[in-house]
Amino acid sequence: MDIVSFVSQKGGVGKSSLARLLAVHAARKGLKVMIADFDLEQLSCVEWSAQRMRNGIEPEMDVRPFKSLKKLRKLESDFDLVVVDTRGLADQLTEEISEESDWVFLPTGTSMDDLRPTLALARKLGRTPRLSNKIQLILSRIGRSGKQLSDARIIINEAGFSALSEIWPHRDGFLSEFDAGRAGSEAANPHLRAAAELLEAEMFSQSIQPPKKPA
Ligand SMILES: Nc1ncnc2c1ncn2[C@@H]1O[C@H](COP(=O)(O)OP(=O)(O)OP(=O)(O)O)[C@@H](O)[C@H]1O
Ligand SMILES: [Mg+2]
Repeated sequence: MDIVSFVSQKGGVGKSSLARLLAVHAARKGLKVMIADFDLEQLSCVEWSAQRMRNGIEPEMDVRPFKSLKKLRKLESDFDLVVVDTRGLADQLTEEISEESDWVFLPTGTSMDDLRPTLALARKLGRTPRLSNKIQLILSRIGRSGKQLSDARIIINEAGFSALSEIWPHRDGFLSEFDAGRAGSEAANPHLRAAAELLEAEMFSQSIQPPKKPA
């Protein structure tokens, strides 16, 4: 079982939306996927999956609330992939989840207000030896300014980290799709869909271990 987590030091950066995007993509690829929702205050992913079910959107996604890692570890053999959505504020549990993860994504905006806490968290998590090369930033909820984006990439690289080459563009059109229980890749608008598909493919290829071929 692979565990891929979405964590951040700040709220509202796109963790839940990106967790859902990756999970739906992996499910379409035939993996047995669960989203583990550790954000018990909001349960954004749990609520989203209920809405998805009400609207009869396929594939149906298995999304469950979790309070501790212990319960998650027990499901080791039941899933190929667990996508973990964490709380807005990175706490002790977020760190523990990250340490157990095979890959950690940190969504971030391009402003210094976003980059500073994100890079601080990346450094903190990176001190765990097995995580040091499994932390990746995702430039998330990005507007139309190419300059802001390229400046942010420079800052990230200078800090010794990397961001995915694809970004998560901020588009108002996504909101009604999310509200209806869809992932970005399931948007009716082909431009939105195309942007989501580029990102989900890169998230998937970076984070998910290819199945081992028999020797
Ligand atoms: N690409 C996008 N375009 C427009 N709005 C977006 C996009 N991605 C996310 N949003 C919206 O931004 C808000 C925050 O996104 P999301 O809930 O995914 O972030 P989060 O990091 O999980 O937040 P929290 O820390 O509160 O759990 C939500 O209202 C969501 O619908
Ligand atoms: Mg969330």
